[in-house]
Amino acid sequence: MSRPSGTLLEAIAATAGTPTYVYSAESLETATRRWVAAAGDPGRIYFAAKANTNLAVLDRLRGTGIGIEVATAGERARAERAGFPRTRILLGGVPKSADVVAEGIGSGLALVVLQADHEVDAAVAAADPALPTRVGLRVRPGIRAGAHPSLETGRADAKFGYAPEEVVDAWSRLAATPGLDPDVLAVHLGSGIGSLEPWDRALDVLLDLAERLAAHGTPVREFDLGGGLGVDYESDDDPDPSALIQRVDRRLEGTGLSSRFEPGRSVVARAGFLVTRVLYRREHGGKPALVCDAGFTDFARFALYGAQHRIEALDGATSGPATVDVLGPTCESGDVIGTDRSLHEVRPGDLLVVRDVGAYGFVMASNYNSRPRPAEVMLENGRFRVVRRRESLEDLWRGEPAP
Ligand code: LLP
Repeated sequence: MSRPSGTLLEAIAATAGTPTYVYSAESLETATRRWVAAAGDPGRIYFAAKANTNLAVLDRLRGTGIGIEVATAGERARAERAGFPRTRILLGGVPKSADVVAEGIGSGLALVVLQADHEVDAAVAAADPALPTRVGLRVRPGIRAGAHPSLETGRADAKFGYAPEEVVDAWSRLAATPGLDPDVLAVHLGSGIGSLEPWDRALDVLLDLAERLAAHGTPVREFDLGGGLGVDYESDDDPDPSALIQRVDRRLEGTGLSSRFEPGRSVVARAGFLVTRVLYRREHGGKPALVCDAGFTDFARFALYGAQHRIEALDGATSGPATVDVLGPTCESGDVIGTDRSLHEVRPGDLLVVRDVGAYGFVMASNYNSRPRPAEVMLENGRFRVVRRRESLEDLWRGEPAP
């Protein structure tokens, strides 16, 4: 996906101000259609809403026929507001309150994935034979997927899901409950995974469990292989979902098992651009820094994971050695957007663009320092529209009684 032109980004900054997230409709479609083409059926793909919940983005994705994985009541409400029918909403296998599980049971969702005893208890209590619900169990396969330690979720010591030896018991409880139809085993190995090999190891664990559950007379019909496919933040080399899907399909051939996926990052990351204005320049010890109006409150991925996204001047020109740091304006030295960039010609007042921020960008923004969260803009066929206005100062104290 090429970057929107400097002229267009200038125009967006002039209209919407900075910092602003810009999403390319074309890039959203391209990435989603790659997944759909690889899967051969949009019904196998459930976009992980946590990566980006802007209603205009969700509306685009809905239009391609895929489903959506939601983790919270808020994500579910957004998915429904964006027009996803419940039959295409999957309540995912992340830690949930009993209330969220209970609301999911009997409500017509595509699938509810449970991942701890209190969730199974809530599902059993809410089950209604008149409104049967497909349910699944998330397994913790004990795999290190090679992602950032904060983003590895399939490790033996992770807080998510059931250890393989715990699955039969929980599954039997579900199978014994009228109104619950357990038929899916789910994993999510982590996020930002660079190789396909972890899925092979996960399939070993899942296939073994499927055999055991079939022997119990309560067969598994489908594996949910989660999200996790990484994006190369240093280049334009797009991740290839078809390699992953083909590999999984080959393993499942002849087993009668089907599979589904919950990609987030690989669907939306490339489509997002964060436009920010440089406030001033600083030199310390020969190391120049640009302090700009986007901070870690707007884009947290470097501060949280040391993630280096490409940061470019609008004309794309690079200059001099890659020693320029890009910092945010808030009151902490850890407020960093990226380091060691080649941006020597950039001057105060210039615009910068941070690339591949469509996933886990705006959704992780905060109001720290009482900073209103940025605007979001959708770009399509060279035209743009604001799809979330910048927060106002009044938004900052919404819900607080006037003193
Ligand atoms: N399914 C489940 C159950 C998940 O927990 C996640 C991500 C996904 C699917 C989607 O994974 P993806 O395809 O996006 O890797 N804030 C972090 C990412 C956290 C991901 C959490 N779970 C970041 O900025 O990198």
